[in-house]
Parts: sequence; structure tokens; C-alpha cells
Amino acid sequence: MPTQLTWLGHAAFLIQTDSHRLLIDPFLTGNPQATIRADEVGADYILLTHGHGDHLGDTPAIAHRTGATVIANYEIVTYLSSHHGIKNVSPQHLGGEVRYPWGSLKLTLALHGSSLPDGSYGGNPAGLLLRLPNATVYHAGDTGLFGDMALIGDEGLDVAILPIGDRFTMGPRDALRALKLLRPNVVIPIHFNTFDAITQDIAPWVDEVVRANLATPVLLAPGQSHTLG
Ligand code: NI
Ligand code: MN
Repeated sequence: MPTQLTWLGHAAFLIQTDSHRLLIDPFLTGNPQATIRADEVGADYILLTHGHGDHLGDTPAIAHRTGATVIANYEIVTYLSSHHGIKNVSPQHLGGEVRYPWGSLKLTLALHGSSLPDGSYGGNPAGLLLRLPNATVYHAGDTGLFGDMALIGDEGLDVAILPIGDRFTMGPRDALRALKLLRPNVVIPIHFNTFDAITQDIAPWVDEVVRANLATPVLLAPGQSHTLG
């Protein structure tokens, strides 16, 4: 079965390979875009970009219910273990790559914050570089534009998942500049229109991606999937 990327709204994705379900940044409760509830989503692994509530989201409840392995930076998995009793964790940190039964994950730089819901320190925020059986996928997490995206682009990206909502992350203009550095085949915009503060008119941005021949834009509605390779 080909790998499917399903957008669950905001920064949340469910990736289904032929063997595993990977849940990224599962902010479902309180996410007005969410099309699946936290008590019904399945997961074998939960991958987190950073500790903010709109990314950590329902991780404790889903991890307890499913027994999924939580992958995040050292500070976040330590918090989940000590505050929520989650034992099935895989700590990583920026620059490190780990092989899993479904592929591999490297945590990459992200320019942002990462405090945890109780205000404690969440380490550095990250992007996710996933080498899946059919494709290499970069989920940027929450980040501003940075020049070292060119190094991530050197990895050879099939898909880049980029925030474009502005205010807390890159906005549309910087996301276009990011595409010049990342050089993905496909771009999926996220982290916009969830809340009034990150409202964007997406159509002109999509048009500009096409006009400048930066990537193939794939505009998903929450709940929709993109099939890899
Ligand atoms: Ni954030
Ligand atoms: Mn966010």
C-alpha cells in the first residue's frame, strides 16, 4: 500500500505506511480544523516538533490509550515521562537521526520557542526529516525562515510541509523564499486559518508557487490525504 499523508488540521498529520501509523503534532481537542477526535485516532508512533499546546496537543491521552511510542526531543519526552507517566518514548535531538521499523527520523533546526503547557522548558523546537519507504518528507514544525534550509534541501525532499500562517511562523512571502532553499517536489501549506490570528488568503500563494515553478503545491482540506510516490 502506498504511504498516505493525511492532514488533520493545523500542524497535525497522520502518516500511514504499509506497516505503521505515525501521528505528528496531534492537536485535535480544541483544533477547529480537526476532522478526527483524540479518542478515535490510531497511532503506533507520535512525533512532536515542539512543546507548544497546539502541537503537543492530545499526546498524553493518545499515548496512554494506544501505547504509541512518543518521539521528541529529550526535554519533551522527559516531561511526558515525569508528568504523564508515559514510558514508551524515544528521545532525540537536533541533528541526530534514528532508524525505526518504518524508516528514519532526523530532527532539524527550527527557529521558534518550545515551552511546555505547564511553562517548563521544552528544549529547542525542531523540524522533522522523515525518510519513509516511498519518499523523503520534511515537516518544518513552527519556524521562521532560516538560511540553513538549504542544507535540509540538500537531503533531496519529495515533500515539504511548511507553516505559512505568519505571526507565529513564516508567512506566505517567506514560505516562498523557503521553497527556493528546500527545493521540494511537492509543498503542502499548513498552520494557517486555524485561528483568526493566522488567517491567510491561500489562493494567491498557490498561484505564485506555480508561476515561479518552485514546487507542486498540494492544497489539502483537513481530513484529506496526499499519496506518496
Ligand atoms: Ni509553536
Ligand atoms: Mn504552532
